[in-house]
Amino acid sequence: MSLPPRSHAPRLVIATRNAHKTAEIRDVLGEDFEVLDATAFPDCPEIEEIGTTFLENARLKALGISRCLQGWVLSDDSGLEVDALDGAPGVYSSSYGGEEGNHALNNQRLMREMKGKSPRTARFRCTMVLARDGREEAHFSGTVEGHLIGEMRGSQGFGYDPLFIPDGHKKTFAELGPEIKSGLSHRARALRQAVDFLTQRG
Ligand code: IMP
Repeated sequence: MSLPPRSHAPRLVIATRNAHKTAEIRDVLGEDFEVLDATAFPDCPEIEEIGTTFLENARLKALGISRCLQGWVLSDDSGLEVDALDGAPGVYSSSYGGEEGNHALNNQRLMREMKGKSPRTARFRCTMVLARDGREEAHFSGTVEGHLIGEMRGSQGFGYDPLFIPDGHKKTFAELGPEIKSGLSHRARALRQAVDFLTQRG
């Protein structure tokens, strides 16, 4: 559950229009930052994710958005790497099922591709870039290891959460819910490094 920001909390703009990512970031940051995302800046451009790595795409998003507003901008590029699929869907996670951002199609394709396959090990990876005035200031990454199940379980979270069980748990991210996910997710791990950086910079 997010707390309202402190009135003098520093502002951090997340370079995304994905409400799930913004909510997860807000959950981790609590009241220490005023978190906005690109939906609050309709004049900022839509950033095309044409990179071939998480870092390239995270840079495109952070720099693109930070050129059109003042203050700190943080981007998140993330995805699922599956060992039995040679790391796919990876950087193409959001369009794996054939339609950008269609989580139902993405999960259906993943279940199809993984039928009868082993190992079922996989990880979520997240790369974040912090930018200001069109310049990259730092980047961070976080991962969470786990395995895939054969059918979707749970209704919380987003994306591949209903198919992914993090190591040390018996339930999927979609069953575990936001409190547990924000304690161990790839996104939370990258984000904590970004917060340490911002805290040191004052
Ligand atoms: P991006 O917007 O290009 O970074 O794409 C991220 C995609 O990776 C999402 O659309 C999901 O398919 C997947 N993904 C990233 N993080 C998560 C997560 O925390 N849970 C489930 N799926 C995720």
